[in-house]
Amino acid sequence: MLIEFSLNAKNVSLDIPAYYRLSDVLRDKFQLKGLRNACEKGYCGLCTVVLDEKLVYSCLIPVFQVRGRNVMTIEGYAETEDFEDVYQGFKQSGVHLCDYCAPTRTLTTGILLNQYTRPDETQLQEIITTVNCSCTPYETLKKGIIMSSRLRQRRLK
Ligand code: FES
Ligand code: FES
Repeated sequence: MLIEFSLNAKNVSLDIPAYYRLSDVLRDKFQLKGLRNACEKGYCGLCTVVLDEKLVYSCLIPVFQVRGRNVMTIEGYAETEDFEDVYQGFKQSGVHLCDYCAPTRTLTTGILLNQYTRPDETQLQEIITTVNCSCTPYETLKKGIIMSSRLRQRRLK
């Protein structure tokens, strides 16, 4: 099936079986390796991408579902000013993520901060648990997210 969609703000097309997983297509056909294929069952969040401004687990999406839609991965997000807020917010708060989760953690935090501009405790919990990681302390991640939201508010003033 011919699949056409927008990927990181560029129109792309490819002829592939409709049932292929979006996560596999992004990693293998487009070499976008920031997202991980970890659990492949919708548990870990490491394959998260943005589909029409919403976060989705790309391992659960057959590629035909993105026809005519907009997909953004961390590689596209890294080109935005929003990315810098999260990157700096984590850095200034001493959040040291491993290479495995850092791309997805940065993307999911940045996108959810569009929705929760000054996240409360429940929203912070939602942001943190979008990606499964038990190696960075919860309180450290919390500080990083709060700092990221402050940097964004300052920039947008
Ligand atoms: S790989 Fe998709 S949720 Fe874990
Ligand atoms: S999985 Fe990367 S810091 Fe925990």
